[in-house]
Amino acid sequence: MTGIDDLPIRDELRGTSPYGAPQLDVPVRLNTNENPYPLPEELVARITERVAEAARHLNRYPDRDAIELRTELAGYLTRTAGHQVSVANVWAANGSNEVLQQLLQTFGGPGRTAIGFEPSYSMHALVSRGTGTGWISGPRNADYTIDVDSARAAIAEHRPDVVFITSPNNPTGTAVEAETVLALHDAAQAARADAAGALVVIDEAYGEFSHRPSLLPLIEGRPRLVLSRTMSKAFGAAGLRLGYLAADPAVVDAVQLVRLPYHLSAVTQATALAALEHTDTLLGYVETLKAERDRLVSELRALGCEVTESDANFVQFGRFEDAHAAWQALLERGVLVRDNGVPGMLRVTAGTPAENDAFLDAVRELMKETSA
Ligand SMILES: Cc1ncc(COP(=O)(O)O)c(C=O)c1O
Repeated sequence: MTGIDDLPIRDELRGTSPYGAPQLDVPVRLNTNENPYPLPEELVARITERVAEAARHLNRYPDRDAIELRTELAGYLTRTAGHQVSVANVWAANGSNEVLQQLLQTFGGPGRTAIGFEPSYSMHALVSRGTGTGWISGPRNADYTIDVDSARAAIAEHRPDVVFITSPNNPTGTAVEAETVLALHDAAQAARADAAGALVVIDEAYGEFSHRPSLLPLIEGRPRLVLSRTMSKAFGAAGLRLGYLAADPAVVDAVQLVRLPYHLSAVTQATALAALEHTDTLLGYVETLKAERDRLVSELRALGCEVTESDANFVQFGRFEDAHAAWQALLERGVLVRDNGVPGMLRVTAGTPAENDAFLDAVRELMKETSA
């Protein structure tokens, strides 16, 4: 039988595995940082209407520049993220993963490098690999915050072309201070002052769940600083596949060099526009999830767990002698969480109150067993 390795695949892909959290059929699935609330019926009806209208024109290619959608996304950011942006500042693609891929196709590539501060979102390294960009794993403190001095030193040493800063960070939930972002941004520009500087990407996929304001205002006057966002989490629309970035218009012009023509289908654009009409309702669910996230933090602490401060819709908890065994024990109680490979720690997504109760009951039993 032919295997992958018998095929003439690129050398750097040999022996690697695809991204994927195991999806198991259990009653309580809290492992992929999805929003547990289905879209409300009136939004489903509005999507149906807008998609029906789009379907009447599917013989034509969609708006290649997604002008209406980018205008609405700019309006959403302006209203909610503390800084005025316009259509020229915003670009959209199929999930923020595609946004990140387009950025690396444009600013990374063979002979170039990207750095991230790990543990962090594993797709940053995978998309780097997929685009032939070298990956550098930067350090974090023991409490999972970014240590500015050692991060600066890593940037000075490696002179990366792209710097990823994930805030709130996945899988730890840690928010990054604006001063840290600015320090790393300046260090990255200084390290590549002989070239045209470095691109700094703030991955704010979980921004709406944070206790702190968005880092969007930092893009002002910094054409090499990009903010990446998604409708997968706060908008409860992971199945839609819609991510976007906000940056200087020059960055938006630059990604045009690599984007596929008509990459964003008319159906996707119509669905996203319908969801944006219902922003207020969807952000209401975000408030509920933030309260549930805070409840998970305090109840897990009351149970004796070590819990990492979280600004996201998930919580990192432990510390287990054998995190994988703890993951398995929770699974046996019908609760699926995520083992991200962070030593001693697991990650749980904030679900509905009932799902969170079931999770907390399972942890309570597990803690009793291990302390017995
Ligand atoms: C930090 C971070 N960035 C980006 C994404 C990708 O989201 P999407 O491609 O669904 O927009 C995720 C998804 O889990 C994430 O955790």
